[in-house]
Amino acid sequence: MGELLRVEDLRTYFYTEAGVVKAVDGVSFVVNEGEPLGLVGESGSGKTVTVLSAMGIVTRPGRIVTGRIFFRGEELVHTKEEEMRKIRGKKIGYVSQDPNSSLDPLYTVGNQLVEVIRTHFEVTKEEGWDRGIKLLQLVEIPEAETRMKAYPHELSGGMRQRIAIARALAGEPELLVADEPTTNLDVTIQAQVLELLKALERDLKMSLVLITHDMGLIAEMTERVVVLYAGKVAEEAATHELFQAPKHPYTAALLNSVPRLDKKAALVPIGGGIPNLINPPTGCRFNPRCTFAKQICIDQVPPLEDIGGRRAVSCHRWKEIELRRNA
Ligand SMILES: Nc1ncnc2c1ncn2[C@@H]1O[C@H](COP(=O)(O)OP(=O)(O)OP(=O)(O)O)[C@@H](O)[C@H]1O
Ligand code: SF4
Ligand SMILES: [Mg+2]
Repeated sequence: MGELLRVEDLRTYFYTEAGVVKAVDGVSFVVNEGEPLGLVGESGSGKTVTVLSAMGIVTRPGRIVTGRIFFRGEELVHTKEEEMRKIRGKKIGYVSQDPNSSLDPLYTVGNQLVEVIRTHFEVTKEEGWDRGIKLLQLVEIPEAETRMKAYPHELSGGMRQRIAIARALAGEPELLVADEPTTNLDVTIQAQVLELLKALERDLKMSLVLITHDMGLIAEMTERVVVLYAGKVAEEAATHELFQAPKHPYTAALLNSVPRLDKKAALVPIGGGIPNLINPPTGCRFNPRCTFAKQICIDQVPPLEDIGGRRAVSCHRWKEIELRRNA
């Protein structure tokens, strides 16, 4: 299992009038080949900014303050920004969580696909068009040739999401990052899009990073998971181990706030909200919401500790507290 993407101590801040928003503040993780990884956390935890940073497409007022990004062991920094985007778009395909930003309403599906294809490959417009049709077929769009001539508004939400995936695949990336790929889709279509992602992983031997706030999707789609809280990694583990025995109080709270199919346990919403990232709480950023917090949690930032067995946790008290899922 080769290492595909490595993110080391990434910090991305937004320089706003109100102050510096520390959206991503020291995030590290690795994506291995063939090991689908989930990035999970509540809204505002920094999931999207993390992957945009890894691809070098953070826009103002955002800026990567520190951090190193490696793809297959090679550091991606020695290139000009424009060049870097191209490289990353080719190595890493990104399906945006905002359907309006991934497809331009003013151009046909075909024109948009051809444009992306031609930024990655030296082909004529006609060749690009043929490749576009193949991409639509790959994402199982019926009557691909006709759909190439359609405008985005003429298509259903599920179809638009497939086209957004096709667009992300245009550079034949080794890694596909799908950012909340099924939000806003109804349940049947959600299931179809997930099946498609699984099929692409299998057939194209492509690795997947799934961004979501939905623990159910994490369980279904991933083998490893990185839990983000307020711009920091709370915990990282193999998915089944994380579900079996979470080590971070935030992970446990996330798990207890989602319905389980196997048990009729009461759902416990996580109290409080995600902190202000201009002036985050001192020490552990989760301390205002944590039922286990002690003085040390306010005084000292917990390091992300390697606890063996490819697990890491960022909590001063992980050894002494007993976390349980609602029985
Ligand atoms: N352009 C911007 N200007 C200022 N702050 C920003 C900007 N973009 C993102 N942020 C801040 O960065 C933080 C992380 O945002 P991000 O979009 O990565 O969260 P997320 O985990 O993807 O949330 P969601 O589940 O809602 O998509 C948030 O606090 C957000 O307000
Ligand atoms: S470090 Fe303290 S506040 Fe943070 S999660 Fe652990 S126990 Fe809770
Ligand atoms: Mg997001």
